[in-house]
Amino acid sequence: MEAKQAAGTEAARYVESGMKLGLGTGSTVYWTIRELGRRVREEGLRVEAVPTSLETEKLARQEGIPLIAPREVAGRLDLAIDGADEVDPALRLIKGGGGALLREKLIAANAERFIVTADSSKCVEKLGRFPLPVEVVPFAWEWTQRRLELLGGTSRLRLTKDSGEEPYRTDNGNYVLDCAFGEISDPAAMNRSLLEIPGVVENGLFIGLAERAVIGYTDGSTKTLR
Ligand code: 5RP
Repeated sequence: MEAKQAAGTEAARYVESGMKLGLGTGSTVYWTIRELGRRVREEGLRVEAVPTSLETEKLARQEGIPLIAPREVAGRLDLAIDGADEVDPALRLIKGGGGALLREKLIAANAERFIVTADSSKCVEKLGRFPLPVEVVPFAWEWTQRRLELLGGTSRLRLTKDSGEEPYRTDNGNYVLDCAFGEISDPAAMNRSLLEIPGVVENGLFIGLAERAVIGYTDGSTKTLR
């Protein structure tokens, strides 16, 4: 069994009937959503979910998982489950490889519990090997890029996979700058510095949000951190 499948499927075990869920984006949480769909159809699991992307919305619909809008959630979601591009020992994350970081952070921050699910290749001692995705408004994005690089790194405007020339647009219509800062010694300070830059909408550092990590290995085993 593939590591992502093992991790994503195991993470679905934290879901109970009656929960309002946040559903993440990517190829690991894909397996969580598939497993939840199976439980909805075969076991009568009753959940309602807010998706973190249009891609996840489509998959959840295909799987027969009822969807709700954020305004229909009184208070907080019960549980959000999502993947990650890097996970450090304190369960601080880099996310946004799939471009869904803004909705992902909104949903994680508005859930009682947030569980991250990833294959073991995502576990790192220090964050920063994976270029940090930063969502920026298209207007004057070059100015925003200049300010970002003053923090000590280089960045690239993400392009669409298809044409390779057009800037990639998030589900919110924004651009993404993938920023190579190298090892991030103080992720909380970096998060604050990034959010102070005009034009930055959100960044992929998730700090103090994940309470647990379900990690999958190539032999099909999983390990839960925390
Ligand atoms: C999307 C994300 C994904 O969760 C992250 O990129 C991990 O994806 P995958 O599970 O496909 O490796 O943050 O914006």
